[in-house]
Amino acid sequence: MTLIRRCAELIDIHETADNAWAATGPVHSRTEFIAWAPSLWHALAQGRKSMNGRGFLVLKGTHVEQSEDGVAQLISLFISTAFGTPTRTDKKLQRFAWPVRYESTGYRSPTFSQTMAEAAFHTDSQYLDEPERYFGLFCVASDVQGKGTNFLVSRSRIVEKLNESHPAALQALKSPFPFRVPAVFTAGASDEDVEVVWAPIISEGLIRFRRDTIMAALALPGVAVGDNQLAAIHALEQAISEAPSLTHHLEPGEAIIVDNHLMLHARSPFSDSKRLLYRVRMKEQNSGTNTEQGGLADPGQKPWDIMEDLR
Ligand SMILES: [Fe+2]
Repeated sequence: MTLIRRCAELIDIHETADNAWAATGPVHSRTEFIAWAPSLWHALAQGRKSMNGRGFLVLKGTHVEQSEDGVAQLISLFISTAFGTPTRTDKKLQRFAWPVRYESTGYRSPTFSQTMAEAAFHTDSQYLDEPERYFGLFCVASDVQGKGTNFLVSRSRIVEKLNESHPAALQALKSPFPFRVPAVFTAGASDEDVEVVWAPIISEGLIRFRRDTIMAALALPGVAVGDNQLAAIHALEQAISEAPSLTHHLEPGEAIIVDNHLMLHARSPFSDSKRLLYRVRMKEQNSGTNTEQGGLADPGQKPWDIMEDLR
């Protein structure tokens, strides 16, 4: 049985991808996936290995752009199990595959995935005690080249830059900073829920950053950091802008899997409200240490084409 046919069957039974995924469970899903599509699993396992030291992987031919919503979400979830265990991204709706598209939410603090604006360099779920190790963006519909384009920069290159130009800032970035949890991800999914997590921006094998959630936390009464820490954020942003970055414009059917501990990512603004990605975040299956060997792939590296294996 192909993965796509199995996903369609599961949607017939459970109606939504979230229900199907919750009913099947991550361990069983992985076992079933290996049984249905061993060659695809093997290809993805090779892809995962190739991420060590690279920080990301582009997949082609996922078929999510040709599939009905629930099936596309399930395909995204099954592919993601080759990298880690998919997590529920928000506390209220508890979704596994989060639609990244323009939403008119009315929140005073919407998250990047709900707007069409530029998303500056950040770590996903930087407001969690333990941000997920990986995330995948599965593209159903894209805007034109240059709009909604992704950028990546690696922790190791940023640290190199800071070591050269601002070693004191690098030390300050290892002290705790406050991150305000965006409204949609709080327990009550409301602006009235104030949740703040404190964590270093740079720690062993992990970079955690998002300017606006730090600034939102610092605007709260009683939340403050030292002047040296504020200066360190400025130095960090300078280092990010000077470090080499990689650009990828996701086309329909493509996916990008990113090591969220080793890479910061950004997105240019877009204007097509039909742009749609499914995002899956994955926690690591086995605890392991991050390998950083440069952390940025050769930009000429070919995307991993999984089309043949999916059919
Ligand atoms: Fe993000």
